[in-house]
Amino acid sequence: MLDLINVSYDTLIPNNVGLSTDKRVLKALEKWHPGYINWWNDLIPDNFQKSLVYLRTAVSVDPKGWAKFDYVKMPEYRWGILLAPQVEGRTIPCGEHAGQPAWQEVPGEYRNMLKRLIVIQGDTEPASVEQQRFLGRTAPSLYDMRNLFQVNVEEGRHLWAMVYLLHKYFGADGREEADDLLRRQSGSEEAPRMLGAFNEETPDWLSFFMFTYFTDRDGKMQLESLAQSGFDPLSRTCRFMLTEEAHHMFVGETGVGRTIERTCQIMAENGIDDPYDIEKIRSFGVIDLPTIQKKLNLHYTLSLDLFGQEVSTNAANAFNSGIKGRYMESRIDDDHKLTNATYPVWDMVDGQLVRHEVPALTAINMRLRDDYSRDAAGGVGRWNKIIEKAGIAFEMKLPHEAFNRKIGVFANHNFNPEGQLVSGAEFDKGINDWLPNKADGDFIQSLMNPVYEPGKYASWISPPKVGIDNKPGDFEYVKLHMA
Ligand SMILES: [Fe+2]
Ligand SMILES: [Fe+2]
Repeated sequence: MLDLINVSYDTLIPNNVGLSTDKRVLKALEKWHPGYINWWNDLIPDNFQKSLVYLRTAVSVDPKGWAKFDYVKMPEYRWGILLAPQVEGRTIPCGEHAGQPAWQEVPGEYRNMLKRLIVIQGDTEPASVEQQRFLGRTAPSLYDMRNLFQVNVEEGRHLWAMVYLLHKYFGADGREEADDLLRRQSGSEEAPRMLGAFNEETPDWLSFFMFTYFTDRDGKMQLESLAQSGFDPLSRTCRFMLTEEAHHMFVGETGVGRTIERTCQIMAENGIDDPYDIEKIRSFGVIDLPTIQKKLNLHYTLSLDLFGQEVSTNAANAFNSGIKGRYMESRIDDDHKLTNATYPVWDMVDGQLVRHEVPALTAINMRLRDDYSRDAAGGVGRWNKIIEKAGIAFEMKLPHEAFNRKIGVFANHNFNPEGQLVSGAEFDKGINDWLPNKADGDFIQSLMNPVYEPGKYASWISPPKVGIDNKPGDFEYVKLHMA
């Protein structure tokens, strides 16, 4: 009998979807597998491929105890296909088919829309691994290196999750799309990744922490919406992916928090009260708070662009067809069809920012972005607690969502982080204080010196409060194989 909770390791590809009896899909995936391994081998520097990394591997989808921790060489990581258990009697949660039984096969009329959403989601997963490929060389500790590689192997698994859906449900063109997911490359001229933020560089560890806090959180919101899909296999896939995604945002939040904590500690130890005494603060090998704020501004606004246009008929169609729901759809108290509902979206009228009501169906992206901003504010509040506790007069803030935007109603206008429309000249003058400049980047880069001794940390970051899997402070999270 098919065991839907525990993962079968009897095939090349661990899974809980009965692959060993699904010869067609198994064959297709086994054909795709070498290309994936090549992609991984070309990507991660060789000496880290041979290192033993203390990783968690999903061995079950049971909410309690789904993971097992052990030393693994990354190319030998068991990337599996895991779907959350089928909920009996599940119905389509939204749109014109709301209340009908969830689809177990692809609904023909929505095939292309569904495929496109799966491909876009799938494209982001390997992209972030590509962006983060060089960070192992400058890891501030073995603990952080281990977390980086954990995030990387799980993004690899998320790629597998989307590729499985393409192979299983979309025939020949699904196979083609799966191949293309390995053909595109982050930042490539000829074949870039599909979304802007996934073609940006992740040049240093603070960028990595900001990325996992802000951009993985966009991923979370998208997965939450797809977990509400009326197409049940997609819903089940995304539900399990979300359990892994939580760790990625934890890495981001605690990474930024530890960076802030270290700066505050150095300021206190050396009697520096003024957070803008930048040169002095930097001379101690820590990152000043205003520069951390600039990094925050950059990554938050890049991530906002991932939500697309505020008013979107594509988003309306995806909701109305029941392919993609809203954040926490099942907990929202309305008709789940949005026939007459409205939602306030941002617009520009005579150079003024206003929010006005539009049909809620067309404002699905705006609503998800609002949910995202609320969610992202939580960690910022916790970072401020660290600064407050140190008695430093400085507050991290999410910039206004009009600032630094390339997509949506704010694109092609200049706003400052407070959300005021400014002239091009004012913008050029302010930009040095609002976004990281070359000198900031160079300074941060100068701190990126690897620390590979167990229990030791780079100058600019505090140790974590607790270890992964409750390991002690000097635990050797990565047994390095240095060539
Ligand atoms: Fe992911
Ligand atoms: Fe992630």
